[in-house]
Amino acid sequence: MQKNKTVPTLEWKNNAVRMIDQTLLPEKLKVIVVGDPAEMWRAIKRLAVRGAPAIGCAAAYGVVLGANKSTAKTGAVLLKDINKTADYLATSRPTAVNLFWALERMKAVAVAEKGLPVVALKKRLLDEAHAILAEDTAMCRAIGDNGAKLVPKRKGVFGILTHCNAGGLATSAYGTALAVIYSAFAQKKNIRVFADETRPLCQGSRLTSWELMQAGVPVTLICDNMSAQVMREGKIDMIVVGADRIAANGDAANKIGTYGVAVLARHHGIPVYIAAPSSTFDLSLADGSQIPIEERDGDEIRRGFGKLTAPKDVAVYNPAFDVTPANLITGIITERGVISAPTKAKIARMLK
Ligand code: MRU
Repeated sequence: MQKNKTVPTLEWKNNAVRMIDQTLLPEKLKVIVVGDPAEMWRAIKRLAVRGAPAIGCAAAYGVVLGANKSTAKTGAVLLKDINKTADYLATSRPTAVNLFWALERMKAVAVAEKGLPVVALKKRLLDEAHAILAEDTAMCRAIGDNGAKLVPKRKGVFGILTHCNAGGLATSAYGTALAVIYSAFAQKKNIRVFADETRPLCQGSRLTSWELMQAGVPVTLICDNMSAQVMREGKIDMIVVGADRIAANGDAANKIGTYGVAVLARHHGIPVYIAAPSSTFDLSLADGSQIPIEERDGDEIRRGFGKLTAPKDVAVYNPAFDVTPANLITGIITERGVISAPTKAKIARMLK
């Protein structure tokens, strides 16, 4: 599906994690080696690895890296070290719930298996991290297949707008929003993707347009402030984006700017789909107002990619995510099926 599939987003090799340094794309496709939890924390924080499901997979391997560094002689002591590593990795980024979901899953395995000899417990943790990665790939494939059914086969071009990068780079493989696109494209549907640039860190221009071009999918890049006009010109038939956390009522946090796209889409009568695996739902939160929104360094706006584009000490507000209310969402595409006009009851039923 992806031509670059020989370079996985991240993988476990020689007792370390090899990952694409996404901050360097599209200029350089460079693989970095992450060998301890502090390096993993930093890789997540600086967005070398990013996208909710990919962060979850990376964090799970980060716990393994911590366990392997531990000199504990008993399962009980190793458990303490594992919890410490997991709690530390949890401080890297606050919004994507997949991070906490994966860390909790690793902690739960450690608790359940603490009676094992330390070597066996470390191996068990590695198996769990591998399982998280493999399940993510399977979920992404299923999301793609479920979502592709929403894309009609027709003569005229079907325009799909996406925001940020919810592709293979943001997951173990395939992606969520882009899985829908890859799957529809594989079914020979006549699609054209419009990729929002996605300021300030340009995941849309740097990553999505690069990834889609690698796969041969027709893609047109636009600046974020062009989407209203492109919608009015009738070029967009559907919006599909990913999510970092979905509350129990269907409110969905995703990259800053998604909410604006959804408001514009409602005005233009265009359906908005969120594509996300079940690991992105946080049913402990009643609605989106409780989702923690990461605020990032102002220099990402003042001096994007090293060039001063504003007075160097201008005040900046830089929330990395926003929340799209459930009433603007036409459907949530999950690996289990599509939740149309999401409500608390429908979400609970689908995830049961
Ligand atoms: O700050 P990022 O690049 O990690 O933000 C990523 C997004 O907002 C994605 O759309 C989301 O994580 C879904 S990825 C399948």
